[in-house]
Amino acid sequence: MKSRFSSIKWAVAFVTLGFFSCKNQPVSTDDIIADNVKNAVAQYTLQTDIIEKSGKILNPRTLLPDGTIWYVPIDDWCSGFFPGSMWYLYELTGDQKWKGLAEKYTEDLDSVKHLKWHHDVGFMIGSSYLNGYLLGDKEEYKDVIVTAARSLATRYRPTAKVIQSWNVDKGWQSERGWECPVIIDNMMNLELLFEATRLSGDSTLHQVAVDHANTTLANHFREDNSCYHVIDYSLTDGSVRHKHTAQGYAHESSWARGQAWAIYGYTVCYRYTGDKRYLDHAEKVYNFIFNHKNLPADLIPYWDYDAPNIPNEPRDASAAAVTACALYEMSTLIPDSPYKATADKIVESLSTPAYRAEVGTNGNFILMHSVGSIPHGHEIDVPINYADYYFLEALIKKQRIEKGEPIR
Ligand code: GLY
Repeated sequence: MKSRFSSIKWAVAFVTLGFFSCKNQPVSTDDIIADNVKNAVAQYTLQTDIIEKSGKILNPRTLLPDGTIWYVPIDDWCSGFFPGSMWYLYELTGDQKWKGLAEKYTEDLDSVKHLKWHHDVGFMIGSSYLNGYLLGDKEEYKDVIVTAARSLATRYRPTAKVIQSWNVDKGWQSERGWECPVIIDNMMNLELLFEATRLSGDSTLHQVAVDHANTTLANHFREDNSCYHVIDYSLTDGSVRHKHTAQGYAHESSWARGQAWAIYGYTVCYRYTGDKRYLDHAEKVYNFIFNHKNLPADLIPYWDYDAPNIPNEPRDASAAAVTACALYEMSTLIPDSPYKATADKIVESLSTPAYRAEVGTNGNFILMHSVGSIPHGHEIDVPINYADYYFLEALIKKQRIEKGEPIR
């Protein structure tokens, strides 16, 4: 396996073997990884067998209320997560079967590298081709990564020094009065730009990512370090026009997955820049999340920290899985911190029958209880492919830390 940071000396947390209770039985941390891998392999074997037997290339995103799977087209923002999960299963098992499937479903996304009409090309190509480049052996994936990053960079708006997330000429986004909407999720697309600079030597892509991270740091966060979902910028003078939400409960509420994108996004920015402000900021977001009065004891948040009917509100397992990934990485950067223990607790919770589905149920997705967008009335308390993807990523990070290996 190639390691992106083979030349960088990562601080590796020394982890004593921890024990926790699952179904009231003490289980070692080795066992929790093995048990989750076994479960994930069983679910994704069922999932991929159905698709392979169809003779089509299908990309499962979620389970619909009528019990059917929603298969998405390649320009959907979630199209990279299914191939990405197969790359992670290959990494976790070493089984060549997953490599072959990962390559097949990754390469179906080839034309996404030219996608310029939304910002999610970072999620799509990052989860698929970038993981494939790092975990597989196809040199040609590099060109797809660099081309995709250049497509993403076309959305850079120099007046505001941000990447525009959504277009505003059609759909529900055209009805909000926005000019240049930027969502906190966009922090997760920056990895593609950083990697493309590393692979191509084109430093303009790195600079676009840094500008975006700095502008977001200046405008997206409140005094308590929670973040808004959408900041709308003026394309004329770069000023902030609106501070809104689209997927959260209210403009002034704290949408759970948004806080997760923030903590992981700034951790990733620190990884590529070494700029301490970004890591400091990730720690501030940690303090917001984990001191919040509405965070349940099992650390799986409600879909919005300010949802009106807590505790009778859906949880969002996807937000928890993304946060666990950030915390594992932060734990390698900040010795003697609580981050690994917190991430372990999240993984422990997600591994219980409260969140992890029985094999053969849940549309053959791993995790139950995620939320796409309650204001849009879709994907409420369902499995979603990115919850599975980040859960598998968290398992890989946990395993690498516990083996004393570099986390990336
Ligand atoms: N990036 C869209 C979402 O988190 O739902």
